[in-house]
Amino acid sequence: TLSTKDKQVVKAFWAKVSGQGEEIGTDAVARMLRVYPQTKTYFSHWKDRSASSPDVQKHGRTVMAGVGDAVAKIDDLKGGLLNLSELHAFTLRVDPANFKILSHNLLVVMATMLPNDFTPEVHVSMDKFLAAVALALSEKYR
Ligand code: HEM
Repeated sequence: TLSTKDKQVVKAFWAKVSGQGEEIGTDAVARMLRVYPQTKTYFSHWKDRSASSPDVQKHGRTVMAGVGDAVAKIDDLKGGLLNLSELHAFTLRVDPANFKILSHNLLVVMATMLPNDFTPEVHVSMDKFLAAVALALSEKYR
């Protein structure tokens, strides 16, 4: 579970990330599709899956808005993300294993884009937070 300190670290880091949110989301989605090709099945209707594709950019913004919403609901992720979990489970039918994959790609891109802010302390707390988000999104699958 996230400690009070983790929550503080996540909120402070997220405030720094927000300015580059679109770029981070876009790169993370493009990287996920490239490195974990099984994730492409959900986006088979997109013609271009590179970071310069409008589809990828739009989805990058969507994902970052979702993570930002999760930061706002950090004290009750399971309750706060229930609707989003339902959408991914029943409507989109996304394999929940993919939540960890996207989380990993978000971490990689944030570390690359904000090397000075992405301290080991931030790394630990963001990793725990994204794992908690992935777990909350998996809630409706059970
Ligand atoms: C849609 C967030 C992971 C596939 C969405 C939406 C949000 C979101 C906010 C829009 C919901 C709406 O329209 O009301 C997240 C977050 C994730 C995550 C925060 C994890 C950190 C994933 C993963 C996949 C995925 C791993 C598949 C590999 C989709 C698809 C849509 C969607 C296919 C619909 C896109 C569209 O309608 O154009 N997601 N998502 N999501 N997500 Fe996720």
